[in-house]
Amino acid sequence: MSFAEYADCIREGDVAIVYLSHDSMMPVKVQRGAQTQTRYGVIRHSQDLIGHKYGSKVSCSKGWVYVLHPTPELWTVSLPHRTQILYTTDISMITMMLELKPGSVVCESGTGSGSLSHAIIRTIAPSGHLHTVEFHAKRAEKVEEEFVEHRVGHLVTVRNQDVCKEGFGVSGVADAAFLDIPSPWDAVVHAKTALKRQGGRVCSFSPCIEQVQRTCAALTDHGFTELCTIEVLLQVHDVRTVSLPLPDFGPDSDTNEEQNQNQSSPASTTTIKTTTTPREIPGHTGFLTFATKPRT
Ligand SMILES: C[S@@+](CC[C@H](N)C(=O)[O-])C[C@H]1O[C@@H](n2cnc3c(N)ncnc32)[C@H](O)[C@@H]1O
Repeated sequence: MSFAEYADCIREGDVAIVYLSHDSMMPVKVQRGAQTQTRYGVIRHSQDLIGHKYGSKVSCSKGWVYVLHPTPELWTVSLPHRTQILYTTDISMITMMLELKPGSVVCESGTGSGSLSHAIIRTIAPSGHLHTVEFHAKRAEKVEEEFVEHRVGHLVTVRNQDVCKEGFGVSGVADAAFLDIPSPWDAVVHAKTALKRQGGRVCSFSPCIEQVQRTCAALTDHGFTELCTIEVLLQVHDVRTVSLPLPDFGPDSDTNEEQNQNQSSPASTTTIKTTTTPREIPGHTGFLTFATKPRT
């Protein structure tokens, strides 16, 4: 297994995703002889995981779990949070609008918990590269360990430095640059340096509109074009069976009076399968500002 390549069977050293329920999953490092406690009982790695196929149902003493192949999307909903992270709704828009594809070279800062990084790496593999910058030493060290553990270490370089002062550590190589830091306007010049001479795409994620305004001003000052700020809001619909009252249109005019009187009362409800909209309005995550560096 690797986060960038699918494998059929679970091997020692893999990171598997244990599915407990739709909104509860946990990553597990598979080790011979190890055990993992879940709310449904214990998983014994040697007997229950190693050599079994991904997607298998594992019986525990108080129930069962599924063991899933890791993906960036499953990692995003199960990773240990060291920072606020980006979720798949924003990530999917970022991936498309930055025009990422296999072979792309991407610069990113800050790395944070590596949620977006894993998605970028999967998209640009097997020949692309991610240069990611994180100025918090412990976070940089931890995320680098995770990349190796997830067998994608060769696709990424982690630099422990301040992107606003020292930039991305590369120049003229990137197809795309991404910023998720409190003061992205200070890093715009470094994004420009990192991007290829023939141009490229940039994206900045900011929760506040004042940050967006300053970033757009900096992008314009540095010659970026096609500025566009968007917000993506996800609505998940629940599938439900509901009972609806049948309207009463009165007696049937085609049948005679006697028949109408003898008729037993019709069913007053009907049961249908439908989807319901969320009761809560989706919350604001952040604004995504995209721009293009033109060919120079
Ligand atoms: C919100 S987190 C990024 C989350 C990441 N996008 C993810 O999906 O997991 C922001 C990170 O940027 C780092 N950071 C903030 N300012 C920075 C700077 N000037 N240079 C490098 N890293 C910075 C912080 O330490 C933090 O880890």
